[in-house]
Amino acid sequence: MGKLIIFDEQKKVFHLKNNFYSYVIQIVMDKYLLHRYWGKPLREFRDSAALTMMDRGFSPQPEEINHDRRFSLDVLPREYPDTNHGDFRTPAYQIMLADGTTATEFGYNGYRIYEGKPAIKGQPHSFDKAGQCETLEIELISVNNDLKIFLNYTIFPDSNALVRSVKFVNIGTENVKLLNAGSLSLDFTDHDFIRYSLYGGHAAERSLERSELFRGIQENSSTRGASSHQQSPFIALARRNADEHQGDVYGFSLIYSGNFSIRTEVEQFGTTRVVAGINPANFTWTLEKGESFETPEGVMVYSADGLNGMSKCFHNFWQKHLVRSKHVNELRPILVNNWEATYFDFNEEKILELADCAKELGIELVVLDDGWFGKRNDDNSSLGDWFVNREKLPAGVAGISEKVRAKGLKFGLWVEPEMVSVDSDLFRAHPDWTIHSNAVKSSYGRNQLILDLGRAEVREYVIKVISDAIKEAKVDYIKWDMNRHMTEPFSNALPADRQLEASHRYIMGVYEIMEAITSRFPDILFESCSGGGGRFDAGMMYYMPQAWVSDNTDAVCRLKIQTGTSLVFPPATMGCHVSVVPNHQVGRITPLNFRGLVAMCGAFGYEMDICRMSDEDKAEVKEQIKLFKDIRPMVQQGEFTRLKSPFAGNDTAWSFTSKDGSRMAVMYFRILSQMAPEVGYLKLQGLEPNALYRISTFKMPEHAHEVNESYLKSNDIEGKEFYGDELMNFGLTITPALLDFAAYMWIIEKIG
Ligand code: GLA
Repeated sequence: MGKLIIFDEQKKVFHLKNNFYSYVIQIVMDKYLLHRYWGKPLREFRDSAALTMMDRGFSPQPEEINHDRRFSLDVLPREYPDTNHGDFRTPAYQIMLADGTTATEFGYNGYRIYEGKPAIKGQPHSFDKAGQCETLEIELISVNNDLKIFLNYTIFPDSNALVRSVKFVNIGTENVKLLNAGSLSLDFTDHDFIRYSLYGGHAAERSLERSELFRGIQENSSTRGASSHQQSPFIALARRNADEHQGDVYGFSLIYSGNFSIRTEVEQFGTTRVVAGINPANFTWTLEKGESFETPEGVMVYSADGLNGMSKCFHNFWQKHLVRSKHVNELRPILVNNWEATYFDFNEEKILELADCAKELGIELVVLDDGWFGKRNDDNSSLGDWFVNREKLPAGVAGISEKVRAKGLKFGLWVEPEMVSVDSDLFRAHPDWTIHSNAVKSSYGRNQLILDLGRAEVREYVIKVISDAIKEAKVDYIKWDMNRHMTEPFSNALPADRQLEASHRYIMGVYEIMEAITSRFPDILFESCSGGGGRFDAGMMYYMPQAWVSDNTDAVCRLKIQTGTSLVFPPATMGCHVSVVPNHQVGRITPLNFRGLVAMCGAFGYEMDICRMSDEDKAEVKEQIKLFKDIRPMVQQGEFTRLKSPFAGNDTAWSFTSKDGSRMAVMYFRILSQMAPEVGYLKLQGLEPNALYRISTFKMPEHAHEVNESYLKSNDIEGKEFYGDELMNFGLTITPALLDFAAYMWIIEKIG
């Protein structure tokens, strides 16, 4: 028996409990697994809210219950529900037996509680370096003794997260087919929740959707071969009275980067089922005898402290229990990326000039983006031909890396290993290596196709050619891109009846090459990317500790994109760059200080021609870099809090508290100036009420002095001292700046 998981033999109850939550599972009739409770920790589960057992019309009974009409699987709160066998709600899984039967019957067959947790083979998964987590494995067996299902639950002493995964094992003599293999499922006893999810598009990722839970099924999903820009593998159910700072919130996220589905169903009696996992659309998996299949992990977080509380749990959990990179807790280098500065039009000279300017400004890393290989002068060719273009870089990647590094800077490189351009030597040599079907014409995106990474020979090639390209030069950082979604999911290496395995096999192939390359080059800082934030998920985060948030670098759009991303991921994981105005994506003109402060709220950098700036702007960039170096530990290693939401109006505010609580940086952004402006009072969070703090820095919006000098001066509180309780309950004044795109910043130091 573990410290965190107890099994009550008599009541047949598993109670998983730490300081943050209790989770209770009950076995009834020695067969069925019921979900009984998830929420605030309970001293002991004694079943005060006993199950309602009553005859419900059209809800069937299992045969062994026979005439007791009060028992129906269609009504009970279940832990991992099947389908076509008495429960009409959204199932967690479905298996087709050899004879075509799609109903299955499983019963409880034992459990195991052990320290540590299983590593999921070939897939990203959470871990516990301290070895203090405990796992409950519940075994189910089919009535025909031909299949087993293992449900894994891992609880950590230091986290609000509960990690779940499922393993199917074929112990029979015939092949069966998984039609659906969810990672997690549970039933809430009511539907009194607000449902949050993240939606978007290319260059418009992760907007916040807030909706009522309605009777019926609501689903967030992807069939794009990637987790996608359009939907994120995350939802939260928040109690109606919960807000950012208080109230019960239940968050769900998947450690998976492919086609996913997260469904909620409010059924006839008002209960709510949540099911999450690989999207059953476009998925089957043949399980031959003796074989097993493991689902991706699902992470469930319970927070009593509102949406911020949930986000903090996710942030801490990923950083401590998921991101493998040695850079996870390190400060991320300030970079300049040449993409928006030059696009494909660069040569060694231009990049070295950029490096000189970077050095002068205090930038630490120069990233060479797309276009350094094959004959890639636009996005129509050469993916797959990972050989340096000597016209652009006569001394090769090795040469330019050496020259950049000789200036005391780090060097980074862009790659897109999963793809092949139709116009490439690789495609001409191996047209069959792509995901495509000869029965229909292929759809194109950027004139490129996706390599069939389900095939071992393709994976081997990619691992070798990318490793060689990296090995040739000294590379400190890699941006790993993926720039189209999957169409015609078909693999020439699979038989007809296994074609619906292609999408999952692809993402498993991606994981295998990422595993090989990231472990071969452990010193490299990897940033994942998919046309910006098209694969910003926990699966990628296992291999790569940061991701490019969006191809949209407009600071106003970024307020929403970064806020949406922060629901699940911390600032250290978010690549955020300052770019030129008018902005290349939306044409907006915003002041440099506004762009700077927005980008400073993550893994900071520039993505513009930093050599072609006025002296005034250069001086300002130097100041920004100096400031960022000061606040970087708070932003990237501290605790992040959302104080005002851009989804609610004109203003956004975020704070970043240092690990030891001694410093806090507060950012406030007001997008448009207003007539009759609101005088905002920003109440801070997370300070010690009785500690004394000094406002050591206060930055007002650029040019604000000219427009409203006397008023602003009266609100300049730099150098003043306040107790934490006043800053949290009375707050700071947000002086209307009478100009658009106003950015404010305070640095607050604890002095006693
Ligand atoms: C994607 C990335 C961009 C850039 C281009 C290069 O769109 O998101 O940042 O690297 O590819 O083609």
